[in-house]
Amino acid sequence: MGKEQAKQQAGVVKANFKKLGVIGAGVMGQALIQGLMRKQMVTPNTLWAAAKTEASCQKIRETLEIPAFSNYSAQLADTDVLLLCVKPTGIKGVLEKLKAGGLKPDTLIISIVAGATIETMESALGSQNPVIRAMTNTPCTVGQAMTTICGGTHATEAHLAIAQQIFEAVGVCMPLDETHFNAVTSLAGSGPAYVFLIMEALADGGVRVGLPRDAALRIVAQTLLGAATMVQQSGRHPAALRDDVTTPAGCTIGALLTMEDGKIRSVLARAVEEATKIAGNLGKEKK
Ligand SMILES: NC(=O)c1ccc[n+]([C@@H]2O[C@H](COP(=O)([O-])OP(=O)(O)OC[C@H]3O[C@@H](n4cnc5c(N)ncnc54)[C@H](OP(=O)(O)O)[C@@H]3O)[C@@H](O)[C@H]2O)c1
Repeated sequence: MGKEQAKQQAGVVKANFKKLGVIGAGVMGQALIQGLMRKQMVTPNTLWAAAKTEASCQKIRETLEIPAFSNYSAQLADTDVLLLCVKPTGIKGVLEKLKAGGLKPDTLIISIVAGATIETMESALGSQNPVIRAMTNTPCTVGQAMTTICGGTHATEAHLAIAQQIFEAVGVCMPLDETHFNAVTSLAGSGPAYVFLIMEALADGGVRVGLPRDAALRIVAQTLLGAATMVQQSGRHPAALRDDVTTPAGCTIGALLTMEDGKIRSVLARAVEEATKIAGNLGKEKK
């Protein structure tokens, strides 16, 4: 087997960018860095990270063995992609710093910051830099993220391809119009928390009928994974898959009717609606 073939088989991906800077290497930023390192898309020579405090930078240097800076101005000159992963309250300051100097005019800026719109970012930068907005989620820590991306005024197909490659290192990525980003923030960004609550409730049910909690949780997690994989792989509607396991006069229909009595369907749908509304207000200045 050739060297290139062996690399492909190991899941190695050749990056379509030269140098990446991750500004805000916290939970999400580090998960993305680890995904890119796993695919060997970046090395300590083609990647740097930034955090607010020197203490966080020191920790990043020790755990990830990559360069990390609390003042990253000097790194901007040879960086062609910047990934912004700070909290929504921090994005304004970062964009001001980038505007203040050092940023190359063609550096691609990709932000995963909830609520930071393309318009806000482009006008804060006041430059022609290509900007891409992304929404991802915490399963990026296990290579199973759901990410959507949308390009701004100066972002080309080639820029979108770079973003797609970065997020595919940690899961699934698809382009989507920015008008849907509040919905995605709710459904994908907050989604894992909804599923964790549902898993907890199902495991409680198992405990109620006598299962040890660890066994109940293990059964629930694998059942969810199996059901989700069936939806993805079969391409069939969940209702059709549900019908397949609903035997007349059986236990499944008994459980399903109990759930419908508790309005599970509208509770979950309304929860998504509520989080979407809140997402629409993230990053807006308080009056
Ligand atoms: N967590 C989620 O479920 C989720 C899902 C989707 C999207 N997101 C988005 O991901 C973003 C990051 O979330 P997170 O949970 O990873 O946050 P986090 O763990 O708190 O990480 C934020 C990082 O930003 C650094 N930072 C803050 N201000 C900075 C500055 N001015 N310059 C450079 N670095 C700075 C912090 O450094 P210090 O450690 O020194 O303070 C920290 O490393 C958020 O905007 C959120 O909307 C999160």
